[in-house]
Amino acid sequence: MEPVLRVRRLRKHYGAGGGLVRAVDDVDLDVAPGEALAVVGPSGCGKSTLLHMLGALDRPDGGRVWLGGERIDRLSETAAARLRRRAIGFVFQAFHLVDELTARENVELPALLAGASPRAARRRAAALLDRVGLADRAGHLPAALSGGQRQRVAVARALVNDPGLLLADEPTGNLDTAAAGDVLRLFAELRAEGRTLVVVTHDARIAAAADRLITMRDGAFVDQTVFAPSGLV
Ligand SMILES: Nc1ncnc2c1ncn2[C@@H]1O[C@H](COP(=O)(O)OP(=O)(O)OP(=O)(O)O)[C@@H](O)[C@H]1O
Ligand SMILES: [Mg+2]
Repeated sequence: MEPVLRVRRLRKHYGAGGGLVRAVDDVDLDVAPGEALAVVGPSGCGKSTLLHMLGALDRPDGGRVWLGGERIDRLSETAAARLRRRAIGFVFQAFHLVDELTARENVELPALLAGASPRAARRRAAALLDRVGLADRAGHLPAALSGGQRQRVAVARALVNDPGLLLADEPTGNLDTAAAGDVLRLFAELRAEGRTLVVVTHDARIAAAADRLITMRDGAFVDQTVFAPSGLV
């Protein structure tokens, strides 16, 4: 089966000379359709840098990335934004919701930007907020929501354009155990639905729920554990 994501010799370095930081140092990766991949490693080892390049949020210094067979490592800003809207859902540690918009409006926004009619965006947002257990909070601003609720809104927003790939960077990093459990259950459901997930995490429960676990150190993959067949031959 063709991988959803194919990465070859991907590189991002910062600084120069003695101050050179090899944030991501020539890594190769294939992510199979429906695979749930967890990436772990110490602070500063390059996890976020990697994830940003996988999601066309950041441009590599070297190497190539294909998403669904399409090269995405040299896109213009506009093309990258369009691709992200259409094909990639992001969930961040700090939620990144728009403070001035209600939960429903936050979820609708990427759908509207992708060209959905207001009615269709509204319908999809309502269904997703219901799914994440927040139908009764749809009219609340983020400030009136708990951290766990904000993150569930962020997951709903990430799903609104039905992306083939969901990327999450420490999605439970700012949450207490109970709220993290809600997000974990949501990710387990998405995995069971066959969505492709790449999750950067310190949370052992999320890591243990993945199909495969990659450990990074100093910008490189130093260990890999496969928990379940990935479908890649
Ligand atoms: N914009 C930047 N300019 C300079 N150095 C950077 C920049 N972004 C990241 N780095 C460096 O690259 C390395 C990898 O950073 P990255 O944020 O990917 O780590 P991380 O594994 O996500 O860490 P954490 O677990 O703390 O989030 C770090 O040494 C960091 O200081
Ligand atoms: Mg990080």
